[in-house]
Amino acid sequence: MYSKAELDAWDKEYFWHPFTQMKVYEAEDNLLIERGEGSYLIDIAGNRYLDGVSSIWLTVHGYNHAHISNAVKAQLDKIAHSTTLGQGSVPAAVLAKKLVEVAPPGLSKVFFSDDGATSVEVALKIAYQYWCQKDADNRDKYKFISLQEGYHGDTIGSVSVGGVESFHSLFKPYMFPGYKAPVPYCYRCPLGEDRETCGLRCAREVEGILALYHHEIAALIMEPGMICAGGMIDVPAGYLSYVRQLCDKYDILLILDEVAVGFGRTGTMFACEQEGVAPDILCLSKGITGGYMPLAATLVREKIYQAFWGEESKKFTHGHSYTGNQLACAAAIANLEVFEQEDVLAALQPKIDLLRQGLEEFKALEHVGDVRQRGFLVGIELVKDKSTREPFPPEFQLGHKVILAARRHGVILRPILDVIEIVPHLSVSETELQKILTAAKRAIEEITQGQGSI
Ligand SMILES: Cc1ncc(COP(=O)(O)O)c(C=O)c1O
Repeated sequence: MYSKAELDAWDKEYFWHPFTQMKVYEAEDNLLIERGEGSYLIDIAGNRYLDGVSSIWLTVHGYNHAHISNAVKAQLDKIAHSTTLGQGSVPAAVLAKKLVEVAPPGLSKVFFSDDGATSVEVALKIAYQYWCQKDADNRDKYKFISLQEGYHGDTIGSVSVGGVESFHSLFKPYMFPGYKAPVPYCYRCPLGEDRETCGLRCAREVEGILALYHHEIAALIMEPGMICAGGMIDVPAGYLSYVRQLCDKYDILLILDEVAVGFGRTGTMFACEQEGVAPDILCLSKGITGGYMPLAATLVREKIYQAFWGEESKKFTHGHSYTGNQLACAAAIANLEVFEQEDVLAALQPKIDLLRQGLEEFKALEHVGDVRQRGFLVGIELVKDKSTREPFPPEFQLGHKVILAARRHGVILRPILDVIEIVPHLSVSETELQKILTAAKRAIEEITQGQGSI
């Protein structure tokens, strides 16, 4: 219908891409995706690319999965959307029930929104309003404690609890006040500690803040398992359960942001299961629809819901036009059905092991400083000097060069600065997984060889 030349030109001329320096984008060959099949993305020229990042941690069972596609088509024949303000819908009711069934214990109510960031905005507002309505004395509990290098989205509330300097620093004048705890980033510990001997000092620092300021803190928010956009930083074992205990001890809510790590990405349905922890509020999005449609959910414990129950003035005054969109809910129901029908989590375990074995080879590469894996979430941190952990100069744009090289080998990857992320679909085959690893390794070798003296 339209020529490749036209589409390439329009993409550059009219479309302002997210998180993209358009000057660089406009100077490079663009990649316009037209179709998806299983683990592959297919561009307008018919080239096939193996997707090694699941469209930024969204796609779960592959592109164009028959069960999910058919569920969306069937829903489309009935209705695409109707409001959920003061009325319900069939797929939203079914999905809310199913989410409560699979969620960590104690979470009993589901509030829908549209994106990861909105699920976090909802969580923050619920947490504050909860304290206000629970007891008039708690109105001072309006701050949040969050982690340095944490990332919770790009709306102002979620930015306020974020800690990635390069994403967030410009917006400081708009960010609400709160407390930041040191990131548990063992490869570059901000406290100068060693993982083997530190006794989780970073978690003890959290206690230091809570002991002083708990009376003004509504909740602690963090990503369990893996701090993703902050650089694929794997949270050390024991940290989450320690933080859960602290939240109970100091009477603050625990909000877990499983927007990126939820829906099997870490090897279990939710990352917090791995430490037997259940939050007070859980944020979900991305994989919730298998990567099909924008949808988010914020789940809360019954005690929180009860604080909003009663007089009109107590209701949660928040909503989005597309809250509980029927097409998205239909996709999300089908996504959960595929987990069951295909026993996805069981099938995933040998692939996680294969990935772990394959990553061993990266550790020997001259410029690979650290390899971090939590299930199907991987970060390979490239450094100029392995012994000192000195990074490459940012202007070298190493990560960007590596992913362009990987694309030439037919695999889509993404960088977070010089951390190369690998996040395959849970449905990836062993052969495809091997292909992703081979392309990533070749790309890293090609770009870093002889670059130690930059
Ligand atoms: C942990 C986490 N929370 C929230 C978000 C924001 O999600 P969205 O981009 O859908 O707003 C992201 C996005 O990467 C994320 O990784």
